Amino acid sequence: MMGVLDGVLMELQDCALPLLKDVTTTDKEEIAFKDLDVAILVGSMPRRDGMERKDLLKANVKIFKCQGAALDKYTKKSVKVIVVGNPTNTNCLTASKMAPSIPKKNFSCLTRLDHNRAKAQIALKLGVTSDDVKNVIIWGNHSSTQYPDVNHAKVKLQGKEVGVYEALKDDSWLKGEFITTVQQRGAAVIKARKLSSAMSATKAICDHVRDIWFGTPEGEFVSTGIISDGNSYGIPDDLLYSFPVTIKDKTWKVVDGLPINDFSSEKMDLTAKELAEEKETALEFLASA
Ligand SMILES: NC(=O)c1ccc[n+]([C@@H]2O[C@H](COP(=O)([O-])OP(=O)(O)OC[C@H]3O[C@@H](n4cnc5c(N)ncnc54)[C@H](O)[C@@H]3O)[C@@H](O)[C@H]2O)c1
Repeated sequence: MMGVLDGVLMELQDCALPLLKDVTTTDKEEIAFKDLDVAILVGSMPRRDGMERKDLLKANVKIFKCQGAALDKYTKKSVKVIVVGNPTNTNCLTASKMAPSIPKKNFSCLTRLDHNRAKAQIALKLGVTSDDVKNVIIWGNHSSTQYPDVNHAKVKLQGKEVGVYEALKDDSWLKGEFITTVQQRGAAVIKARKLSSAMSATKAICDHVRDIWFGTPEGEFVSTGIISDGNSYGIPDDLLYSFPVTIKDKTWKVVDGLPINDFSSEKMDLTAKELAEEKETALEFLASA
């Protein structure tokens, strides 16, 4: 792949980016992972035709086992690790398990793309821009069991903030088509483009890293996959689960105490169950790999 990397290098140079000082291309872990402030892990094994979910997990446990160990060995302990490669939640958990010297709270996985998709669907429906929509939540796994929740989301209409349910007055769409559209958006993009999301994923990574660095605006939260470590929602500890978080001083905090109705609770548990199963499989592979 070093030849391909040369092409990536040329494109980066050709962007003439004002803040880009230097690029190193390498296939050596000791160079790639040395003293990082941020590690964005995008390399993973994609699902191929006829591949079982377990086979995919196994292949990726192998990759993220190495990357976690390399982070542990070569990187700054303050590094912020953002896992993008799928299955992103469990890959992130695997990497964290392999890097015990780096705090668990430094690991996150990307559910910001799902978050942005949810914002965009609401904005499209209401004829506003995505910027007018805030506090949507993606709960759980970056998979089709994720739960996009707008019970606490607000939209700005004629200068006033209104709850999304109140603004839309279309509960059946919000509890049905809206949820499935966001859950299956990745597959819909692949079907149309014959390639997975690229531009929107890149934008989501930028949003995610920017918020880690500069914090979330007052009164706003965003969705991020993090290792659960005590929360008011009954999500078991030590799952890599997407929660609403606020970020300050490069540290996130789960937004606890939001009221959860039965409809939401069932969906949050379902995606937690899938993550618990993925975790169990990954840990089995990790022990034997
Ligand atoms: N979390 C999200 O929201 C989100 C969004 C978009 C894409 N993704 C995922 O991000 C990943 C990258 O997407 P893409 O479209 O660039 O996919 P891609 O298949 O084009 O790129 C994956 C890359 O990983 C590399 N790779 C394979 N094995 C590796 C290893 N052992 N070590 C390092 N690199 C390895 C491959 O060579 C390839 O270049 C995929 O897993 C995709 O599903 C996640």
